[in-house]
Amino acid sequence: MAIDLAQTTGPAPADAPSSDFAEAMSALATGVVMVTNWLDGRPWGMTVSAFASVSADPPTILVSLGSETTSARSIEERGSFGVSILGRHHRAAARHGAARGASKFLERFTDSRGHGLSPSVGGALAHLDCDVIEVVKVADHTIFVGRVRDVRVAAGGEPLVYFRRAYRTLGRLTNPLTRRRIPCPSS
Ligand SMILES: Cc1cc2nc3c(=O)[nH]c(=O)nc-3n(C[C@H](O)[C@H](O)[C@H](O)COP(=O)(O)O)c2cc1C
Repeated sequence: MAIDLAQTTGPAPADAPSSDFAEAMSALATGVVMVTNWLDGRPWGMTVSAFASVSADPPTILVSLGSETTSARSIEERGSFGVSILGRHHRAAARHGAARGASKFLERFTDSRGHGLSPSVGGALAHLDCDVIEVVKVADHTIFVGRVRDVRVAAGGEPLVYFRRAYRTLGRLTNPLTRRRIPCPSS
């Protein structure tokens, strides 16, 4: 049975303490992406884990960025952005893109791309070029829904993982029968 919230009486339910919430979220292992854009004609990138695939047809994704970040402000202005999916070798790039209040110009981590596309991190596992199709403000974050206009995928590589506030990599893949390591093409 649906509950009509407008009809309920009594005090509004209290929110869970934000420190408990942060602790719970730290237990979720996520991939790490760099959300990129152009700023003053230069590549800029912010490290993000709040990235999700929304739909395959048409290809649509979302990212959730703090509304006060330089990235959120300039993506809202420009209407496009990129998402580079980071690999295990991208810790330095991830740290660079997560430094609060610091410059996040990305020249030393980007590869050259065609004019008009978003900047991409060199050696990324995949890169998506997106146009913003919807902007949703929730609490202190802005959710950008992006239609994916161009995709580039690397042949192999292992992901960078974030879990309990630390960067990690996946354990070695082994064949359960031979117990031999399954080689990864580019790690
Ligand atoms: C692994 C990792 C994931 C992050 N994910 C997000 C995210 O999904 N959304 C967000 O707003 N900030 C996220 N952050 C924090 C931002 O990277 C950081 O606050 C931001 O780059 C600061 O930008 P500013 O200097 O423009 O304020 C993450 C940080 C790390 C280390």
